[in-house]
Amino acid sequence: MSARPPFPGQQPAPLLAPAKKIIAIASGKGGVGKSTVAANLAVALAKAGHKVGLLDADIYGPNAPIMLGAEDYAPVNNKLPPAHVHGIELFSMGFIVRPDQAIIWRGPMLDKAIRQFVTDVAWGDLDVMLIDMPPGTGDAQLAVSQSFALTGAVIVTLPQVVSQADARRGLEGFREMQVPILGVIENMSYMLMPDGSKIDVFGHGGGKQLARDAGVEFLGEVPLDPQVRIGGDGGVPVVVSQPETAVALSFEALARAVYDRADTEPADGPVTISEI
Ligand SMILES: Nc1ncnc2c1ncn2[C@@H]1O[C@H](COP(=O)(O)OP(=O)(O)OP(=O)(O)O)[C@@H](O)[C@H]1O
Ligand SMILES: [Mg+2]
Repeated sequence: MSARPPFPGQQPAPLLAPAKKIIAIASGKGGVGKSTVAANLAVALAKAGHKVGLLDADIYGPNAPIMLGAEDYAPVNNKLPPAHVHGIELFSMGFIVRPDQAIIWRGPMLDKAIRQFVTDVAWGDLDVMLIDMPPGTGDAQLAVSQSFALTGAVIVTLPQVVSQADARRGLEGFREMQVPILGVIENMSYMLMPDGSKIDVFGHGGGKQLARDAGVEFLGEVPLDPQVRIGGDGGVPVVVSQPETAVALSFEALARAVYDRADTEPADGPVTISEI
């Protein structure tokens, strides 16, 4: 298997493929709902019959254990078993470090840690792995792009202009690393009121605009719904706790859209250092 360009001074390492499809859920912007989208898409894909792994690659602020009700999970042996929650396999830095412990790592250390999430974790025979990315376009994005045979990246944005700008930077970061962009998801698109009307809390249409500007597919919208936050804080994603709600159905439709896009995305060609 080919390798993407390494950090300066490093030898390229072979790309890891812990699942048939590996999809990064990312954004240049913090707090737009990457972890929420990743958790709900992962569980929705499992409900649809796929074998799903979720890797929480936000090593500085791992949120997936709380969002999926696995914060008490503590793997013991050397070949770390992932947690099994809501029909998916989950691994997170949060299983290894205490909540009151800070993690300060430079690029190469981060690179090593990210690779250990595959080499040291006893993942099952996965159809699809989603990777919940930390915000930004820094070392973690590089490490994940250089370590995994990514099928592609899904970019999450809020509708407003400032979020679009940061999400665009995240998108272009993956492009620079030769990672295909599967599409854009607009989160917190609108709030559905009890009378059926909609309020555009953060504006509307920014996700579509970003997709158009970047020349990628717009995958769909997720409404703003307090049940999403309650589900995240309570460890039961809304696709499990309130499966009939509009927001849960939007996650299920998005899971299908993301999976279909990953199915049609041609495999990445070999990349050599001379190409960049
Ligand atoms: N559609 C939604 N409706 C209501 N609340 C939401 C929605 N999406 C996300 N949230 C809430 O917004 C907050 C931020 O979401 P989340 O942690 O998923 O963002 P993130 O992009 O992963 O953040 P970070 O950059 O810190 O990793 C959380 O409290 C989450 O429950
Ligand atoms: Mg997050």
